Amino acid sequence: MLLRGERLGGISGDVLEFISSREADRQIFEADLLVDRAHLVMLKERGLITAEEFSEIVAGLDGIEMARLGEGEDVHEAIEAELIARVGAVGGRMHTGRSRNDEVATCIRIALRGELLGLMAEVNDLAEALVERAAENDDSIIPGFTHLQHAQPTTLAHHLLAHADALMRDFERLLDSYQRVNRSPLGAAAFASTGFDIDRARTAELLAFDGLVENSMDAVSTRDFLLEALSSSAILMVNASRLAEELILWSTSEFGYVELDDLFTSTSSIMPQKKNPDTAELVRGKTGTVFGSLVAALAINKALPMSYNRDLQEATPNLWRGISTTRAAVRILTGAVSSAKFRTERLEAASGTGFSTATEIADSLVRKTKIPFRTAHQIVGALAAKGETPTIDDLDGAAERIAKFKPSDRGFGREELAAALDPRRNVAARSRTGGPAPAETRRMAADRKRRIEENDRLVEEMRGRVDSALAALREMR
Ligand code: ARG
Repeated sequence: MLLRGERLGGISGDVLEFISSREADRQIFEADLLVDRAHLVMLKERGLITAEEFSEIVAGLDGIEMARLGEGEDVHEAIEAELIARVGAVGGRMHTGRSRNDEVATCIRIALRGELLGLMAEVNDLAEALVERAAENDDSIIPGFTHLQHAQPTTLAHHLLAHADALMRDFERLLDSYQRVNRSPLGAAAFASTGFDIDRARTAELLAFDGLVENSMDAVSTRDFLLEALSSSAILMVNASRLAEELILWSTSEFGYVELDDLFTSTSSIMPQKKNPDTAELVRGKTGTVFGSLVAALAINKALPMSYNRDLQEATPNLWRGISTTRAAVRILTGAVSSAKFRTERLEAASGTGFSTATEIADSLVRKTKIPFRTAHQIVGALAAKGETPTIDDLDGAAERIAKFKPSDRGFGREELAAALDPRRNVAARSRTGGPAPAETRRMAADRKRRIEENDRLVEEMRGRVDSALAALREMR
């Protein structure tokens, strides 16, 4: 951009800094060189530059390093200037039939694609860690909560698998967004495409894209792919923060259900006894940062007229911040979950407190005496007011008052009550699809493990396809 700064004295420096994207462009430096190479290969194949020009320009690109780039408002300008400094005027042929508008959109998609592949693998790792811990704990009885009040006994496996399933949906969302990220805008030029006889499908293929963002106006002006990646990340962070919150809560002395490995905690500078779950707290806190990135990017993109507007540049740093924060949080949680010590005895001891077996008493009353569930609910509700473990006399008394019968006369006696009060038997009874009974969580854990392995293979395969195409491109001389 030409600065008419002379007249305005010192302000030209401020303007340059204001419009510069150089800091965030670090993320797309490598991608930009790849885009340059793909474009050059295509220009050569279409006879728009000669083989000699191609070789000279590519040789010039070979030695360009980010740290040694000179000035320029963005990385595209700086690379082109450096190229021309190295190979002379022939370097100026590189920008034939393209614009920084399609160039930058292509670069962001390439760099984001790599980030998404990394994030998907990391989300898989976290889900896997949860499933592994679940498999070790299919028999660990724990209190289950609703409203953060003791509700019904469940198992640690059931609880951890719930988190794993949420993360597996996050994986699917990321995978889905990947399919729209990995499309090539290259060749759209400024927005109106170009009169040069270029081949967009060829550059897309060289860069391992799965297709085009076809309409050249759409191609340069949309950042919806980035919004999608950020919203998938924000939703993922909602799930991550829920897990983090429980690690925090469960490691308080009030709960005492889990102990995080020292690596994931820190102590207080003043209170030597403290072991604070800082990493989990920061996952919770950084969730806000990711939301902020998404909301900033949404707001920047809102109501932009066609086609390219410089506002778009302002969205990109939010993308990198949002994705890198998400990736770091996921990795930390994987370590914290894998190394956490669950206090299974304490969990089991807590599992029957707060009359959390009440539902099972009502359920077994229904099964044994055939009274309607609502009546059973009323009877057991009356017992709950007593505040301590009910006896069969309590039950008979309440049932007589409410429904004019004695459960012990209808086959629900001392033994049936004791069974219903046992958290372990509560859990064993809940063996239907998706429930906490050990056989069912074992089935779910095995199923999830298999799907996670499949997802891992899928990511590896996608990464392999991208890596080999890019390696081949780097070899083209
Ligand atoms: N740095 C710019 C961005 O991130 C690159 C495109 C610049 N295009 C332009 N017409 N000034 O969007």
